[in-house]
Amino acid sequence: MELIKVRDYNEMSQKAAEILIGKVKGSEKINFGLATGGTPKGLYEKMIEDHQKNGISYKNVTTFNLDEYAGLSEEDPNSYHYYMNESLFKHIDILKSNTHLPKGISEHLEKECSEYDKMIAENGGIDLQVLGIGQNGHIGFNEPGTSFKSNTHVVKLAESTREANARYFDTIDDVPTHAITMGIASIMKSKEILLLVSGEAKQEAMGKLMHGEVTEEFPASILQKHPRVTIIADQKALSRVLITP
Ligand code: PGA
Repeated sequence: MELIKVRDYNEMSQKAAEILIGKVKGSEKINFGLATGGTPKGLYEKMIEDHQKNGISYKNVTTFNLDEYAGLSEEDPNSYHYYMNESLFKHIDILKSNTHLPKGISEHLEKECSEYDKMIAENGGIDLQVLGIGQNGHIGFNEPGTSFKSNTHVVKLAESTREANARYFDTIDDVPTHAITMGIASIMKSKEILLLVSGEAKQEAMGKLMHGEVTEEFPASILQKHPRVTIIADQKALSRVLITP
């Protein structure tokens, strides 16, 4: 795992945007895996700024998001469909038909899951997957205990995850109890992974990621086994991590 140390959230977002924009410019066609939550918001803002200033086109880009809450429609302001449209897609020239997220409402969620993996594979797989990390080590919504062999699946959210995400909802009771997430195996199939980590709340997770054992009890630890992972972490996230040069 390559570690890029940055000062703060802004610098993390800037560096990440430079990497993604570089890939958009340098490829005839590229598939990004995208994430939601607080962490990648700044990255998307920088991409939009750049698009408005320099006119880089995203018509050659296809995206697959990591996850979606079960039970929320695409129009629900708390859905990840809504987040992606508002935070990125509607501000750039990406073709809507090239953007994909798991569907949160379906009579056949399980079928939805296997079709999602199939669609990614048929499109040639993910070239670069953007990831955040949960305080409990989750990636996507793969909570501790998830099998490293898992494909896209329906999960029951950990209470700590629901609490962490309650800030976006009126009350914690409104936070969905389940979600659909790309599995650990699905994530590990990406050719390259870019993990963004910012803030004090992620210090412990950062330490376990860098120095902990590889265990299903801490899902992000599997990234130690991926051949091409870049981590961009800021000073607050790193302040309690022992870094050997
Ligand atoms: P956050 O969430 O970016 O909102 O901190 C990260 C995650 O839960 O994966």
